[in-house]
Amino acid sequence: MLDFFERLEKHRKEEKQLAWEGNFRDYLELVAKNPHIAQLSHARVYDMIKNAGIEENEGTKNYNFFSDEIFGLDKTLQRLIEEYFHSAAKRLDVRKRILLLMGPVSGGKSTIVTLLKRGLEKYSRTDEGAVYAIRDCPMHEDPLHLIPTELREGFQEEYGVYIEGNLCPSCRLTLEAKYQGRIEDVPVKRIAFSEEERVGIGTFTPSDPKSQDIADLTGSIDFSTISEFGSESDPRAYRFDGELNKANRGLMEFQEMLKCDEKFLWNLLSLSQEGNFKAGRFALISADEMIIAHTNESEYKAFISNKKNEALQSRIIIMPVPYNLKVSEEVKIYNKLINQGDLNNIHLAPHALRTASMFSILSRLKESKKQGMDLVKKMKLYDGEDVEGFKQKDLMELQAEAIDEGMSGVDPRYIINRLSSALITQDTVCINALDVLRSLKDGLDQHPSITQEEKERLLNFVSLARKEYDEIAKKEVQKAFVYSYEESAKTLFNNYLDNVEAFCNCVKVTDPITEDEIDPDERLMRSIEEQIGVSENAKKTFREEILIRISAFARKGRTFDYNCHERLREAIEKKLFVDLKDIVKITTSTKTPDEEQLKRINGVVERLVNEHGYCSTCANELLKYTGSLLNR
Ligand SMILES: Nc1ncnc2c1ncn2[C@@H]1O[C@H](COP(=O)(O)OP(=O)(O)OP(=O)(O)O)[C@@H](O)[C@H]1O
Ligand SMILES: [Mg+2]
Ligand SMILES: [Zn+2]
Ligand SMILES: [Zn+2]
Repeated sequence: MLDFFERLEKHRKEEKQLAWEGNFRDYLELVAKNPHIAQLSHARVYDMIKNAGIEENEGTKNYNFFSDEIFGLDKTLQRLIEEYFHSAAKRLDVRKRILLLMGPVSGGKSTIVTLLKRGLEKYSRTDEGAVYAIRDCPMHEDPLHLIPTELREGFQEEYGVYIEGNLCPSCRLTLEAKYQGRIEDVPVKRIAFSEEERVGIGTFTPSDPKSQDIADLTGSIDFSTISEFGSESDPRAYRFDGELNKANRGLMEFQEMLKCDEKFLWNLLSLSQEGNFKAGRFALISADEMIIAHTNESEYKAFISNKKNEALQSRIIIMPVPYNLKVSEEVKIYNKLINQGDLNNIHLAPHALRTASMFSILSRLKESKKQGMDLVKKMKLYDGEDVEGFKQKDLMELQAEAIDEGMSGVDPRYIINRLSSALITQDTVCINALDVLRSLKDGLDQHPSITQEEKERLLNFVSLARKEYDEIAKKEVQKAFVYSYEESAKTLFNNYLDNVEAFCNCVKVTDPITEDEIDPDERLMRSIEEQIGVSENAKKTFREEILIRISAFARKGRTFDYNCHERLREAIEKKLFVDLKDIVKITTSTKTPDEEQLKRINGVVERLVNEHGYCSTCANELLKYTGSLLNR
């Protein structure tokens, strides 16, 4: 972090650069040095995203531009950027179509567009993203528009830049009246995009279709000056202040596009199609801007089911923006929303958000037809966890089975609202997973527009999430009971491996204490294997497979530890817990603990607080709860 005065200095330098002004001749010098500054809007948007950096991760690209704010939409963003932004930047045909983001409520559509808008504002202030415009143009248009059509081909060859579009009526008039057609004298300045100042960034929101005026988009006749200039076709009597005018060179967001009247849509389409639109009594006006619209699925469905809209449809590129389907990414969304709101001074017990997130994700998933697959397994698999019978490589098939998955379900806002409401009714300093589930459930009861069937489906997800949480809670407590959990697991694991090795090689093991040669400890091995259902008949293969894995690891110079084998780890964990179960059960559920038990409980609470993110309130609640679970 720079200190304040360094930042001030930097800011001053930036402002000075931003204040660049010259004439068209000076501008051409800049273009000759750096043709980049003359690029069209779509290419500028793409460059901005690319410049922020791209990280490749197992075939999916992660775009740093979005990664602080958008979670779990990697595939969606990749498709958006490659299929639309990148192709449009290369001036392929897609840029002539309007981009329509389509997805469920609160799925991040507006956030994506807002990031692009704020991003462009910043980018236009940097060297790489610099934009220049004819100084007095109401649409801050591209200075290259000054070049007469006849000279363009030669210019393009010489400078290596592509020119698109024609001078606006206002500039045309000024060029003749003020500069006698000498384009080299026309003033040019650097501009910075700013939605607030209506430069290069615009937003259009439909109002009542009946009263909505097309002028909001294309500008309007200025009735106060019309008598002065005598004619409606005099550009001085026209205000180029529609959203399409103002967003020229940059980006216009079209909110809720399909709520608009048809005539609006047609106007918009001719803009994107031909790069120009009709305003007032003028010839077509050129505009170079990316138009991003968004809509929800039901409006989209109504729109495409209407035959009348066919022509419109073919001029739109639909980009689905489904909900995130990864539990751990959903947690990040909640954390982001919580930090933005006023919830951030209460304690959220560990796993509270995760539990809520499991509920949301379950509600968004589609049942699979695959044998042995259920929603909970699917949820885990999607989040990168291998489950019984399925591995990450099966993901593709599962996804192919449910193409429009994520287009419905519980939205992130609902969860945040329920968290707030839990907070208010509870009047406490800490919310745990059970409080969250309770509040989600109450919310369903109060929900006005939900069918009985849907309600039951969702209630079922509440109980599935609860079951998952129960497992997590038990594990957490049991872990906290072991003074050093990792250490114990490691010891048990090594002990098991020594025995397996001796068993497979038909040799004896050395007793660590007496140093006697003894037979491998069959009881120990079985007590671990039984935890994950390895039968007597299968035990030999299981053990041999483990030895093979160990030598494979050794060949690569890696050490095989208990985290390297998913099933073996599970077995070790379970075995440790079984050994502990009685002691945990008794300690957590006695009403009158003796001194020894009390010491133990305090130790566990302390570990939960110091090492696992609990406060003393939720740590004690957790102990009580798991006590009751273990006694069932
Ligand atoms: N995948 C996501 N990553 C990060 N934040 C998200 C994600 N999905 C939703 N959000 C957050 O949820 C909130 C609602 O999202 P947003 O307003 O962008 O949704 P929307 O798709 O425009 O919804 P609507 O159709 O209701 O206008 C925002 O605060 C947004 O940051
Ligand atoms: Mg929105
Ligand atoms: Zn102009
Ligand atoms: Zn707490």
